[in-house]
Amino acid sequence: MEMAMTVMNVATLQPKSLRPKSPYLLPNPRRVFNFKASSLHNPQVSSIGAPTLVGQFDPTIPLERAVTPPSSWYTDPSFYSLELDTLFYRGWQGAGYTEQIKNPGEFFTCRLGNAEFVVCRDGDGKLQAFHNVCRHHASLLAYGSGRKSCFVCPYHGWTYGLDGALLKATRITGIQNFNQHEFGLISVKVATWGPFVLLNMEQDVDSDTDIVEKEWLGSSSELLSNNGVDSSLSFVCRRDYMIECNWKVFCDNYLDGGYHVPYAHKGLASGLNLDHYSTTIYEKVTIQKCEGGSTERRNDYDRLGSKALYAFVYPNFMINRYGPWMDTNLVLPLGPSKCQVIFDYFIEPSLMDNKDFIERSLKDSERVQVEDVMLCEGVQRGLESPAYDIGRYTPTVENAMHHFHCLLHKSLKK
Ligand code: FES
Repeated sequence: MEMAMTVMNVATLQPKSLRPKSPYLLPNPRRVFNFKASSLHNPQVSSIGAPTLVGQFDPTIPLERAVTPPSSWYTDPSFYSLELDTLFYRGWQGAGYTEQIKNPGEFFTCRLGNAEFVVCRDGDGKLQAFHNVCRHHASLLAYGSGRKSCFVCPYHGWTYGLDGALLKATRITGIQNFNQHEFGLISVKVATWGPFVLLNMEQDVDSDTDIVEKEWLGSSSELLSNNGVDSSLSFVCRRDYMIECNWKVFCDNYLDGGYHVPYAHKGLASGLNLDHYSTTIYEKVTIQKCEGGSTERRNDYDRLGSKALYAFVYPNFMINRYGPWMDTNLVLPLGPSKCQVIFDYFIEPSLMDNKDFIERSLKDSERVQVEDVMLCEGVQRGLESPAYDIGRYTPTVENAMHHFHCLLHKSLKK
């Protein structure tokens, strides 16, 4: 999420305009401090169920008066389950990058909610993806990434080909009604766009590149391609963070960048020209751009570049392209109050040997991530506080965030 800059000109914010009439906001803010402890709503435990919670957000309220969804959306276990079913276990989802599975035998593992996957390139060079679960007693089959000629289960040794077929079931002789051909790995739809690998748990979807592009990026795909989001960059490294917050808190923070960066990331803000930020909203993608930002080189270190682009791909994938760099942020939900965020860094190939430049850039980036982790965990604790559920303002500067909430509402209503 790096430099998640959002929307317009931050300097135009008028504090008084940030006082919308909200269905969650008590008419008199003072009353917030007067109610008795026994009347406090505990947002972690909902007695009304996920579908009702969905209905508590009204996407038709105009942006000028919009507020965020109620805190139960960020804390309630049943709401989290609904999200997995309706958001993450449907549609195309970012999973990895093509460089991980460039050659036959290369594989990587990934997860999404409770679902575990392994993606590989088989001996014929075909891209394959499966649930990473042994068909015997459900052990995870593969871990991490690397290169293999087959997958051997670490538990009892059942062995699968890279095409998912069960090749060997250990000591199964004599077991009645066992048909080895019926116990291959369960496949998952896989596709690529540019440097990214995508998965889809729905079985009856077309993985044709054009169709996937349309569904995943909509009309934003051309703009991304034309602004350097492509396969020409080299992979540098991965960093991942386990964060004690709901996955949406991290996404909100990304989409709120233009509002919080000048205050919470002063070091980063000093290298940006926030007067030249714009946000464009596409179907499921929000693109924030900085034209004419800082061109100053600080000690030969130009991390931000004079052009920067930050794309949020609904529901949980971010692509940041700035100077010679691209980093992606994949936000994986791990529970109502926990997520993992995977940062993958890519750079123009000509700079791959410039270790000093890379090290300094990464150090600067990591400083921002640490600040964001602290902010997100602080928000989650606030959301879980019984006194909280009074609504949060969504000032107009955060139209990217509001669009995200409206998309969530639409998905969850289905
Ligand atoms: S669980 Fe995989 S071989 Fe038994």
